[in-house]
Amino acid sequence: MQTLCLSANYAGAIEQAVKIIRAGGLVAFPTETVYGLGGNALDTVAVKKIFIAKERPRWDPLIVHVSSREMLESLASKMPAKVDDLFSAFMPGPLTLVLPKNAMVPDIVTAGRDTVAVRFPAHPVAERLIAESGVPIAAPSANRFQHVSPTRAEHVLADLDGRIEAVLDGGPCPIGVESTVLDLTAGPRILRQGGVTAEQLRRLLGKVDAGDAVSHPPEKGLPSPGMVSRHYAPRTKLVLSDGQEDALAEVVQPWSEQEVGVLLPSGWHTAAPLSFDWGRWGDWSTLAARLYAGLRWLDEQEPYFIVAPLPPEEGLGSAIRQRLLKAASTATDRV
Ligand code: TXA
Ligand code: MG
Repeated sequence: MQTLCLSANYAGAIEQAVKIIRAGGLVAFPTETVYGLGGNALDTVAVKKIFIAKERPRWDPLIVHVSSREMLESLASKMPAKVDDLFSAFMPGPLTLVLPKNAMVPDIVTAGRDTVAVRFPAHPVAERLIAESGVPIAAPSANRFQHVSPTRAEHVLADLDGRIEAVLDGGPCPIGVESTVLDLTAGPRILRQGGVTAEQLRRLLGKVDAGDAVSHPPEKGLPSPGMVSRHYAPRTKLVLSDGQEDALAEVVQPWSEQEVGVLLPSGWHTAAPLSFDWGRWGDWSTLAARLYAGLRWLDEQEPYFIVAPLPPEEGLGSAIRQRLLKAASTATDRV
């Protein structure tokens, strides 16, 4: 299959993508977090194609993307009281709600669960694609299973070229890490940290539990299957250091003769011959926006291994931290 790359600025690109979605095909599209791999959520055959293109196991459920409150309500059998406040504060935006599912949502979307994850993305291209298709769009991140999520159309093509009908190129994703997944059927409980921070949710809702992102329970029975420990991973081994310049330099030092790649905060120095200028340490939104591009770029250079400093649990730093810990596979890899 030839994958079309459609520039979203180009008149007619969204119409073409809408035709593909309505015909049961797959289109990767930009959101404010990462690129999604979209198909008609109500079409079982289209959803099956998503799992095949990504090589994603069927036990891992998909997020359904909507372009209005009505579309969101059409997917849920019940609206927990907190939805009103969450909707006015954060939607459209990088927040996914896990709600009790309605019978119209096919089982393949939710991996047989009785809940559905729903998100209203804040990106003009995504909003138009969903609204003009007139159907909710199931969309996981547009990468091969367990690989680094894509924040540019080139990243999508690197993983999925020839496997999907088209990618809508809307430029780089402004947030750069995935949405926060909030379970409203129990809790509220954060199942995945992301674009809306735990602090923001607690200011609005009071007590909010947070999932333990780096525990290693058996995959069966996890509250959110995406919590499996290895995820978002480059192919090269990733090693983490504490979040200070000297700690990072110390990890790199013994390896300075080798091609070690570093995700390097601006103005920091190490002996590594290869580094990606990540952005100012503490400026978590810039670091989040550049995280996946940095990991992908370093991976392409095929270094001996990659080293990254670990941000603290603070604002968007928490989302970056969670992803780096998962990409490094286990907390014990940490030096
Ligand atoms: O920002 C995002 O959320 C991006 C963009 C494309 O919207 N999407 C995304 O999808 O990250 P994906 O499939 O890569 O991650 C979805 C996460 C997975 O961890 C999955 O297990 C969880 O949401 N999930 C989906 N449905 C669920 C459900 N019913 N209950 C619990 N977790 C669910
Ligand atoms: Mg993903």
